[in-house]
This record gives sequence, C-alpha cells and structure tokens, in this order.
Amino acid sequence: MDIKNISQAVIGRLPRYYRYLGELKDEGVERISSQELSKEMHVTASQIRQDFNHFGGFGQQGYGYNTEYLYNEIGKILGLDQKHNMILVGAGNLGSALVRYMNFRNRGFFFKAAFDINEALYGKQIAGITVYPLDSIADYIRENEIDIAVLTIPKAGAVKVAEVLSTCPIKAIWNFAHTDLELPERIQVENVHLSDSLMRLSYEIRRYEEESSVKTPNKPAHRK
Ligand code: NAI
Repeated sequence: MDIKNISQAVIGRLPRYYRYLGELKDEGVERISSQELSKEMHVTASQIRQDFNHFGGFGQQGYGYNTEYLYNEIGKILGLDQKHNMILVGAGNLGSALVRYMNFRNRGFFFKAAFDINEALYGKQIAGITVYPLDSIADYIRENEIDIAVLTIPKAGAVKVAEVLSTCPIKAIWNFAHTDLELPERIQVENVHLSDSLMRLSYEIRRYEEESSVKTPNKPAHRK
C-alpha cells in the first residue's frame, strides 16, 4: 500500500474513524456497513467508501466491514502498531496535564521524562515521570530512544529548543508553542493550536445565530 500520495484531508479523517471503530469494537460490534458507520459519524457513506478505497477498500464483503480488522488496519496506517517514546519540554500547566492524561498510553504513546528551565522543578515527579534540567535533554534523547518531543513552552524559548532538538535523533515534535519551527526534513512537526478550534466553535455559534435570526427575524443575532 502506497500511502505517500494520499491527501491530507483523507489522512486527517483517519483518527476519527479509528476512534469510532475502537468504541464499536469495545461494544462488541463485529461488523459494520458503510451506511451504519455513516450514521454514527455523520459522514456520507460514499465519503467513507472513497476514503477507504485509497487503502484498498479494507475488503468490505457481504454485510459490511469487519470492525476489528478495520480498526487494526487504520491503526497500522496511523503508525499506532508501534510504541512511541516521548519527552515533555516545559513542565507547566499544559505539559503536566498532557503527562497526566493516561489515555495516550492506550494508543502507544509513553512519556519518559520532562525537561524545564525552572530549577525548582528539577527532580519533581509528574504522574511518575521526572523533571530534568533542559541542559540534559540531548544526552537523554541519545540514551533513551526517544521518538517525539512535546513542546509546551512559550514561543520565546521554542526556537532555541528546536535548534537543540534538530541535532538529536528524534523523529517528531508535537508543538504547542505558538511559533513555526525550522527543522530538518527528517523531523516531522504537528502544530497544535487549541485556540483555532475555539475560534471555529465561535464561528459556528455565530453562523447558527445568524441563520436562526433569518428564520425568526425579531430575535437578536448576537449577544453583546
Ligand atoms: P506554564 O507557565 O504553566 O508552563 C510553562 C513551563 O515551561 C514552565 O514550567 C517554564 O519554566 C517552562 N519553560 C519556559 N521556557 C522554557 C524553555 N526554553 N525550555 C524548557 N522549559 C521552559 O504555561 P502553560 O500554561 O503550561 O503554557 C505553556 C505554553 O503553551 C504557553 O506559552 C502557551 O502559549 C502555550 N499554549 C499553547 C496552547 C496551544 O493550543 N497551542 C494552549 C495553551 C497554551
């Protein structure tokens, strides 16, 4: 299967399929048709079939897909059949919350250590992982087969940290710092901006209110 030329839009939908299929599998659902999956996920059945056809269709035969097979195959495409060791950079509020969220483990993502510049945090534990001085990050990565660095630090420090990480054998950065990072091609980056999601939500509130004010013209469109 050649997954190099598949559009980002299709790849972007895979985690959602994976989550739903995981829930169905846990509920003991053995087979599911694209129509049923479509109802569950509010995506058209033809979109689902088109998406799956990029990966050879996952062998839908007779009545629907085998839920567990489909779940495992999508997991493989997402690289979730491998374990990923991670480190945290920035052991503050956001970073600590991520480390404490145990569900990442269920997906194969394991926090191994945290790094910070605040001396008061050195040696402290967050959900069983230790906070070390930032200076020791390169040695730690080399000695511990770390795949992913999770950056939960302010923008000001992120570029410098990325420079250090560029020299280390990591595979990816999960970047929460609000800045674009310059990295070698071998290091993959996923930028996360929770506020973008909140802005999309704000847009949806606005759209809904405008649409309902057209239907019921006396109702004010926006709260001030
Ligand atoms: P925080 O102040 O609680 O924690 C930041 C931690 O990073 C502190 O422990 C600090 O000592 C450490 N730190 C600062 N510079 C560092 C460096 N160069 N190397 C290593 N550690 C360093 O802040 P919080 O709430 O955890 O947020 C962290 C950052 O994440 C903020 O700058 C914020 O802008 C960003 N953020 C991003 C979000 C997103 O969706 N992308 C959402 C929320 C926060």
